[in-house]
Amino acid sequence: MIKVNNLNKIFNENTKKEFHALKDINIQIQTSSCVILKGVSGSGKSTLLSILGALSKPSSGDVIINNDSIAKLPDLHSSLFRAKNLGFIFQSYNLFNELNVEENISIPLVPLGFSQKEINQKVQTALNLANIEHKKDETVSNLSGGEKQRTAIARALVNNPDIILCDEPTANLDNANSLKFIEVIKKLKELNKTIIIATHDPIFDNLDFVDNTINIKDGCICE
Ligand SMILES: Nc1ncnc2c1ncn2[C@@H]1O[C@H](COP(=O)(O)OP(=O)(O)O)[C@@H](O)[C@H]1O
Ligand SMILES: [Mg+2]
Repeated sequence: MIKVNNLNKIFNENTKKEFHALKDINIQIQTSSCVILKGVSGSGKSTLLSILGALSKPSSGDVIINNDSIAKLPDLHSSLFRAKNLGFIFQSYNLFNELNVEENISIPLVPLGFSQKEINQKVQTALNLANIEHKKDETVSNLSGGEKQRTAIARALVNNPDIILCDEPTANLDNANSLKFIEVIKKLKELNKTIIIATHDPIFDNLDFVDNTINIKDGCICE
C-alpha cells in the first residue's frame, strides 16, 4: 500500500516566487490497484508523481511505501529504492538515441550488480511484455514514436518493479498506439503491479481495470 499523509510541496519557499503546488494531500493507493491521477495541465500531477517516485522531497508530510518513509530516505537510498521498487514511464521517452533498444532497456540493471546472463533474461522478459522484441537490435533514433514508447515501457519494467508510475504516457501517441499502451497496462495489472497514471487523456475514462480515479485541481485532491 502507498499512503500519502498531509503532503505539501512549496516551490521557492520564503521567496517572492513562493508557490504552493501540493496542498495537504491525503490518499491511499492499494497494492495491485490501477489508479488514474486526473487533472488539467498545471494542477500538480507531475509534482505528486515525482514525490511518490522518490525523485523529489516534500516540503512537509510524507509518503509511506511498504513501510518505508520516502521523505526520510537519504538520497543514496532513494536511488536504490527506485531501482528496486519503481518503474517510470514519462511523456518524453528519455532514451539514449544512439544506443539500441536492448542496450537502453538494460541500463536500469547496471547499478544492481546482476550477471550478464541475468541481465539478458530480464531484458528478454521486458521486451516481450512491452511488445518490442522484434526491434531489439534497432538503434532508438530509427524507431517510430510508438516503438520508442514501448522501449521506454520495457525499460521501466526490466527491474520487475512492483509500482509503475506513468506521467502523461499517451501525450505523444496517436490513437492506435494509445490503445496498444492500454493493452500493456492491462497486462501489468494482471501481473498484480500497482499502477499510477497521471493524465488528462479521456481515453483512460471508464476502463474496466481502473480501480480508482483521483482528481487533482490546483494542488488539491477533489472529492
Ligand atoms: N521546480 C518548480 N519550481 C517552481 N514551480 C514549479 C516547479 N515545478 C512545478 N511548478 C509549478 O507547480 C504547478 C504544478 O506543476 P506540475 O506538477 O508540473 O503540473 P502538471 O503535471 O499537472 O501539469 C505548476 O504551476 C508549475 O508551474
Ligand atoms: Mg505534468
